[in-house]
Amino acid sequence: MKVNANTEKQSKNRKPKEGKDLSRYNRIARFYDIFEKPMESFMFNGWRKRLFERMENSNNDIILEIGVGTGKNIPFYTNGRYIALDISKKMIKKAKDKTMKLGTELKADVDFIIADVEFLPFRDDTFDKVFTTFVFCSVENPVKGLKEANRVLRKRKKAFFLEHMLPKNKVLQPIFHIMNLVARLMGPEINRKTDRNIEEAGFKIVEQEYLLGTVFRLIVAEKF
Ligand SMILES: C[S@@+](CC[C@H](N)C(=O)[O-])C[C@H]1O[C@@H](n2cnc3c(N)ncnc32)[C@H](O)[C@@H]1O
Repeated sequence: MKVNANTEKQSKNRKPKEGKDLSRYNRIARFYDIFEKPMESFMFNGWRKRLFERMENSNNDIILEIGVGTGKNIPFYTNGRYIALDISKKMIKKAKDKTMKLGTELKADVDFIIADVEFLPFRDDTFDKVFTTFVFCSVENPVKGLKEANRVLRKRKKAFFLEHMLPKNKVLQPIFHIMNLVARLMGPEINRKTDRNIEEAGFKIVEQEYLLGTVFRLIVAEKF
């Protein structure tokens, strides 16, 4: 199947965002891995592994990672052909460097694209799987981005999301609202109801695993 995967440019009729969210991610790309290292070692890396175990990719799968960032999921890529996209050129550069370093250890094909999830440069029903990790807290219009993810996924195929959200615990919620003020300086909106957004975008949630209470969720959703 032909996928528009060989271009590093935003598709011609889509103007990349130039807002403060984009410049923020370009700016933090250099420090991102260092900043996240403690949480990565204690929690995130194990959760990434769990997400890939759930995906059960096969060699024929065409898989889209939205918001690849510095490429932290790339060491887990196996089986199939991957398209990794991000809106930030500097994040993509980091992801590419990571891929080069992996060399023959990487057991999958990967193409990188600079693109905005709100305007995906792919035809309807292109991918066998779509996934994100810690992305829909950052996307300016999450429901629009999720609708695009839904559009490019083939029918009855699954999308996988590892995302943080507003915890269900009412005592914790005010604390998270205060934390969100600080998080916004770095980029993400940590208190979104991404589970609800996923459903609003037209997916059916078929599995939801709560992580660290209900702060993080591993969600499997189907396009029907
Ligand atoms: C918090 S980082 C997570 C990166 C990576 N997925 C990870 O697990 O480490 C969020 C990423 O989403 C990207 N992003 C934000 N808005 C986006 C958009 N509209 N389209 C595509 N990528 C976007 C940012 O550039 C950034 O790399």
